[in-house]
Amino acid sequence: MKKIPILILFKENKIPKKIKESSDIHFPSNFIFKENESIYVCLHQIVHLNKLQKNFFLLQVGIKLINFCKKGKYYIKYFGDKNLEEINLCLGWELGKYKFDKFKIKNRNKTDADLISKFESQTKKDKKVFFFVRDLINTPANFLGPDEIYNLGRAFLKMNFSSKKISGNELKKKFPLIHSVGKGASKEKKPIFCEIKSKAKKSKKKIFIIGKGVSFDTGGLNLKTGSGMSLMKKDMGGAANCIGLCGLIKSSGINVDITLLLCLVENSVSRDSFRPSDIFKSRDGRFVEIGDTDAEGRLILADALTYASESKPDIIIDMATLTGASRVALGIEVPSFFCNNDELSMQLIKASQETGDPIWQLPLWENYSSQLTSNHADIKNIGNSVFGGAITAALFLKEFVKKEIPWIHIDLMAWSRPNKFSSYEGGEAMGIRALKRLIEKRFT
Ligand code: BES
Ligand code: ZN
Ligand code: ZN
Repeated sequence: MKKIPILILFKENKIPKKIKESSDIHFPSNFIFKENESIYVCLHQIVHLNKLQKNFFLLQVGIKLINFCKKGKYYIKYFGDKNLEEINLCLGWELGKYKFDKFKIKNRNKTDADLISKFESQTKKDKKVFFFVRDLINTPANFLGPDEIYNLGRAFLKMNFSSKKISGNELKKKFPLIHSVGKGASKEKKPIFCEIKSKAKKSKKKIFIIGKGVSFDTGGLNLKTGSGMSLMKKDMGGAANCIGLCGLIKSSGINVDITLLLCLVENSVSRDSFRPSDIFKSRDGRFVEIGDTDAEGRLILADALTYASESKPDIIIDMATLTGASRVALGIEVPSFFCNNDELSMQLIKASQETGDPIWQLPLWENYSSQLTSNHADIKNIGNSVFGGAITAALFLKEFVKKEIPWIHIDLMAWSRPNKFSSYEGGEAMGIRALKRLIEKRFT
């Protein structure tokens, strides 16, 4: 089969006259053209953008490209400057192939165009991770509870990792907040704390990665509305992304000691559910009053953060679909991050720009922490203001992290909606390419 060239152009004067005269070139709706057995991708309208935006768009362009090409064999002639940008195009191309059709008897057409590129082996590895993360998030809660997340995560990370899980009475004793949130669920969906460790070559750098894995968030007794609940199978998106991050670290051979902690619960309604005004003793000994059973993510993470801090790691990273407020602030495509160490924040921002994997800092604004004061306990799980909800959630988590340990908290949507580049709607890997680069830069 003949290989068709795809010309990626950043200068207007490189575009063939015929295209210029016959079409209204406009990014992002109309910038890919077929002419003389070649595909032309006209990107002169994005050259003024900053690095983050440009790299982000290049991945999106890759998705749009495969949907444009559909079938055949292609190769890229890249008239840009940096390798990183080109790799994003290739990754986008691969991601554009994703379908979640496990539950469709009539399968839709597959897009199976091939892109021959020098980045192939890297993008194939990343693609595997992205598809795993998406599949896990897209699988509904009647098929995916705490146990299934644990088993699938373990199977995905394979032999290089050892794992243990804590449940039942041991969980109640050692991780009381995780137990309290998950105790209302049916017996097939009982809460689990799990620890998956890398068995790689011994490295001195210890990294803890913690994921919020709420297999479904009804809100608990503070029940969500129908529309508020409709996407809540994705409330394990933090855990899915953390498994994905470990996969990326593993496949790139970065030599660090990883401990992955997953807090796996279903936040459900039953006679055993925890209640607003209940008070529980956390792993670190302080008492937490429940202001709202829908603010469950920060509770389960709190015990895991305490546990991680006990090992004095070099860094703790947590990922969670924690607040609607973070989405109100930044929309669904840009996860927010919080960090207790300025140097680390700058490194993460740089990693985000270089990878085109968006993530944006919000402040751990100390002056809001008084909002978490509880009348009858040491701390309450919600703030007393309707404003700054993502910040008060992060401040709650910060209470459980030992001050001297560098810590990053990521509040993400873990879900994509259709846009100008792609019609895909569903679970999404977010922030993990930036985090992988950060770890690579900081620890090797
Ligand atoms: N899982 C939700 C947060 C969420 C909602 C993320 C929608 C992404 C999209 C979380 O458990 C929750 O319900 N948070 C509450 C907190 C509130 C009760 C203080 C929220 O954000 O409304
Ligand atoms: Zn909730
Ligand atoms: Zn939740």
